Amino acid sequence: MKNIIISVDGASSTGKSSLAKALAKHYRFKHIDSGAMYRALTFYSLNHKLIDKNHFDIDTLVSHLPTIEIDFSSDDYVMLNGKIIEHEVRSMEVSNYVSIVAKESLFRKFMVTKQRELGKRGNVVMDGRDIGSVVFPDSTIKFYIEASMEVRVKRRFLELTQKNVDISLTDVISNIENRDHIDSSRDDSPLVIPKNAIVLTNNEEGLSHLIEVAISKIDSLF
Ligand code: CDP
Repeated sequence: MKNIIISVDGASSTGKSSLAKALAKHYRFKHIDSGAMYRALTFYSLNHKLIDKNHFDIDTLVSHLPTIEIDFSSDDYVMLNGKIIEHEVRSMEVSNYVSIVAKESLFRKFMVTKQRELGKRGNVVMDGRDIGSVVFPDSTIKFYIEASMEVRVKRRFLELTQKNVDISLTDVISNIENRDHIDSSRDDSPLVIPKNAIVLTNNEEGLSHLIEVAISKIDSLF
């Protein structure tokens, strides 16, 4: 039988990664956070001074691609050339540049190839922006997660302050708005509701309700 692929797409801070993680735990599937892969490439670009406020050296980053290995550890942490960088990729600096890196087709092709390869290794829950639309259009089941701006900002602000990141609400809002704009308006694989996706809203009923609804939809398939 073909691997089961559960795709979970949505904009930043809607709760899609938390849902994907919970579903992977429930079904004992692998969780692949595709956003962490784009973050890892952005982290690499920042470390090699290939991107800053004024420039992005796309050609040099393309020439480095054959030496860049992005993968996941056995407990689903993102790795860059064999080193776990799960904590580093969540920095505000990475968040501020990731959508600029992710909009380039050459880097998307690199990631999509890897994501499809990961999908062949076993049953997976993969979350991102283009999983149900581009990476796995034949996913076993597709979810698209929505949330109000208020819920999203609150989630991200709490997440960062719990990690002792010194951040203002204004910075969180502008990062989310900026990424929403770039991710939805880019030419290659913009954020869309995938065909046949089940749209779920993360609202005041909370994450556990969202998980329950998603599980009941998945169980009804089998
Ligand atoms: O965690 P958060 O929702 O803030 O974002 P993420 O899932 O970590 O993704 C970070 C960025 O990677 C997004 O803003 C997109 O620019 C890009 N991304 C993408 O283009 N395609 C994906 N499948 C996943 C992420």
